[in-house]
Amino acid sequence: MQLRTMTGCLVIAAAVVGLPGAAGQVPGLQPLEGVPPFPADNPPTEAKVRLGEELFFDSILSGNRRRSCGTCHKRELLFTDGLSRGWGLDESELSRKTPNLLNVGWQRSMFFDGRVKTLEEQVSKPLENHREMSLDPEEGVARIRSDPFYVRLFAAAFPNQEISFDLVAKAIASFERTLVSYDSDFDRYLLGDDGAMSDSAKRGMQLFSSKAGCIKCHNGPLLTDHKLHYTGVAERDGHGIPGTRYKTQSLRDSLRRYSYMHNGRMMSIRQVIEHYDQGGSAPEGFEAEIRPLGLSESEKDDLRAFLASLNGRVHRVPGDFSVAETADFPQSPQSADAADSGESGAAVNDPSYLKR
Ligand code: HEC
Ligand code: HEC
Repeated sequence: MQLRTMTGCLVIAAAVVGLPGAAGQVPGLQPLEGVPPFPADNPPTEAKVRLGEELFFDSILSGNRRRSCGTCHKRELLFTDGLSRGWGLDESELSRKTPNLLNVGWQRSMFFDGRVKTLEEQVSKPLENHREMSLDPEEGVARIRSDPFYVRLFAAAFPNQEISFDLVAKAIASFERTLVSYDSDFDRYLLGDDGAMSDSAKRGMQLFSSKAGCIKCHNGPLLTDHKLHYTGVAERDGHGIPGTRYKTQSLRDSLRRYSYMHNGRMMSIRQVIEHYDQGGSAPEGFEAEIRPLGLSESEKDDLRAFLASLNGRVHRVPGDFSVAETADFPQSPQSADAADSGESGAAVNDPSYLKR
């Protein structure tokens, strides 16, 4: 009886939202393809991207010459750091986790609170932050102007322009726009290949769009509405004050992360699914969509299978730039399924990782 009622509810909810039917037709979800948009005053060129890549991985841009953007956004870890939260220059945890930078060119705002609008504008924030790179921009520009290697690269990227901080930001932003991940099972399914997704992943996608209500916030090609919401993530070590709203995260490649949510509160996708199933993990004040879902164990497995189908092929666009494919993502011991059965939020930070 109980079961029949629940099934009935599911059918009604599905009819309202629109169940995914055949491949290629899933209301609210779209495949990701092509090249991220760029601002009119900063069109990408190969020379600019090359320069941006050098700068991104060069410790010349940190006060003590020991850190680069790539210290935290590591290429081999899909541009994140393998920690549950970022690690500060003062040898202590930052308040937020390091997001990966795949598909960042399609993001409409930067940071977990969306406080910065463009990639160009974002660059100065970690550079000047005393806990991240602690660089005086004028000092950075002076260092670059006296380095023949960079003088050459800037001349190729920005002919007849004086080296400035603005150009540093333009080059780094151009490099970041080349980092994309798509061609996932999910994309291939949406583009018409019915066999691209497993039956479990397809059932998970139905749940995502109906009973579980995820699609309300996670929609469109990046599976985010680009808005801020309060999803009831419990605070961790004083970080994440109840009631604060954070940017809906893209769910692409979400199984390749080390920790989840702005403060790295959760260490596995299973914990995230439990969080939503319970209707949030903080004591009060979430949005109406965050409510107990009553998911069965097999439904949770299906949701996880759907999220797994969002792992993409990581590459660089446009294709003329050297393609650096990442076939296998190194598994983090923390994100392994072992963490599923662990204490909720028992996140460990091992900063020795950064020194290796
Ligand atoms: C100390 C580690 C660290 C360093 C160094 C660092 N970042 Fe980050 N990065 C972070 C953390 C942590 C966040 C999230 C901060 C927040 O939301 O307030 C972040 C966020 C970002 C974002 C926003 C992504 C999004 O989806 O909202 C971009 C872009 C970015 N960093 C690029 C860079 C660039 C470019 C550099 C070098 C100039 C850099 N980062 C240096 C840790 C770091
Ligand atoms: C009310 C809007 C909303 C709904 C509904 C919602 N989410 Fe989220 N989701 C968010 C926001 C906002 C974040 C970022 C929260 C944070 O950083 O603390 C997020 C984060 C996540 C993350 C973590 C991504 C990361 O890298 O940290 C996953 C995974 C996720 N959601 C999956 C789901 C699933 C599965 C459902 C359905 C069961 C769902 N979400 C329903 C808004 C929502």
